[in-house]
Amino acid sequence: MARSVNSSRSCGLKPLAKVALVLEIGALAAVPLVLSAALRSHREITVHDPGIRGGPADAGNPFSGLNTEETTTFNDGQTNFTTVFAVPTGLGPLFDENQCSSCHIQPATGGSGPAAPATNPVFNVYQLDGATNNMPSFETQTGPILVPRFPYMSNLTTLDGTVHQLFTITGRSDATGCTIQQPNFTQAQSEGNLAFHIPLPTFGDGLVEFIENITLTNNMSTVCALQSTYGICGTANISGHDGSVNRLGWKAQWRGLNLATGEEMNVQLGVTNEYFPAELNQTTGCDFNPVPESATDFNPSIPEDQFTGDPERMAIFMRFLAPPIPATFNGNATNGQTQFSTVGCQLCHTVSFTTPVSPFTFMSQQTVTLYSDLLLHHMGPCLADNIVAGMAQGDMFRTPPLWGAGKRMFFLHDGRTSDILTAIQDHYCVANGQYPASEANTVINTFNALSPQNQQDILDFLRDL
Ligand code: HEC
Ligand code: HEC
Repeated sequence: MARSVNSSRSCGLKPLAKVALVLEIGALAAVPLVLSAALRSHREITVHDPGIRGGPADAGNPFSGLNTEETTTFNDGQTNFTTVFAVPTGLGPLFDENQCSSCHIQPATGGSGPAAPATNPVFNVYQLDGATNNMPSFETQTGPILVPRFPYMSNLTTLDGTVHQLFTITGRSDATGCTIQQPNFTQAQSEGNLAFHIPLPTFGDGLVEFIENITLTNNMSTVCALQSTYGICGTANISGHDGSVNRLGWKAQWRGLNLATGEEMNVQLGVTNEYFPAELNQTTGCDFNPVPESATDFNPSIPEDQFTGDPERMAIFMRFLAPPIPATFNGNATNGQTQFSTVGCQLCHTVSFTTPVSPFTFMSQQTVTLYSDLLLHHMGPCLADNIVAGMAQGDMFRTPPLWGAGKRMFFLHDGRTSDILTAIQDHYCVANGQYPASEANTVINTFNALSPQNQQDILDFLRDL
């Protein structure tokens, strides 16, 4: 989405294309833009997403300061993360992909997906090794990787919310005798019973894991005290396991990396493990291996760093991944950073937290500049996906960290846009009978009332993250 308005600040700053004046009506700009004749005579500016930042990946390396053992384990975990699974090593019977890095690769291993320029990796696996899967119509070659969930059971009333994997191993040469069928996505789509989530990057997740609960809930209280002004009050997705604040995933459904990895192994790849030891489909003739398929290996010849199952090693790999490195801000991005906070984006996209003392010295008492409160917010019926996850209702999403946004291809939980300006505008939504209005409405109105140059500077700042 590109919007163009006259701007005095654009004079002499940036030579930008001259286009027609288009005012955002959907977002109900609270303050009308008063443009004097003098300003109109100046050059016009088109507020636009500068696009994916070029240059090096600026992500994917471990923290500096890892010792030799930590480095070895990081490297091992990275190898596991990129390992291609087949049926004898645990793939299926249901799966979305055959390796973690198929979906977590942009702009480096551990990131989001697909790799830029977008080539959806599910097209590489659906008929691999003789598999007879059909490609669901919602997946496109150059679009986002859409992992499908069914909000409701087949009666369309009882909540479901789980992933319904894209593919099965039926037809694969290493799965002779298995004849299970894919879910009926056409029917689910016609019933409106489909929700999509795209991969989230894992850079810096070790720091995210270690931020203390009270740090998050104190921040929550501070913002909630201003609720009458901004209409924003986050909800912590409290873990049903130990009562702490869950923080990973689009719905903050995961507390930490170990459990998330165990679940991703079974859900995305179909590889059973010590966290999730049962095959998700137990049809006779489709389960080829003893369970768990990835397990602690007590063979005395196995080196120490390879003793655990895959989830632990992959979790260590991600835990030790340093956060994305932002670009050096120029004057515009520096102003954008200020505007980001002035407008109120930081009421949800909290600029930073500090980690407590950690046995991993490189993660101890660190400033975590993630741009997220890690809390859930009502985002209105326009974004609602009807997926309920713990305390996350069908219209609630965790504020996603914005570090690394400069290298992201697709935005929002279902990857509906690759334009960062559209991602901002899509925060705005009025209530319907089912869900309240988006908590972000006041902030988005304020954003829309900014001068075009200030809006542009925010976009430049975001693409420098
Ligand atoms: C088919 C694509 C796909 C594959 C393969 C995949 N993931 Fe994911 N991953 C996702 C999606 C989609 C999400 C967002 C899940 C959600 O919140 O609904 C995600 C989220 C995550 C997160 C949470 C990140 C955060 O900061 O919130 C972690 C950790 C993760 N994946 C690890 C893994 C690991 C480890 C593997 C391999 C065992 C893996 N993933 C394989 C698609 C994939
Ligand atoms: C009420 C809380 C709230 C406010 C205020 C808010 N955001 Fe967000 N933001 C979110 C949530 C929640 C999402 C994820 C929504 C989804 O995926 O459906 C999000 C998503 C995003 C994304 C996409 C990130 C991704 O990983 O896909 C960007 C970019 C973003 N916000 C920027 C901003 C900017 C800039 C502002 C200020 C103009 C702002 N946000 C204000 C809560 C907020």
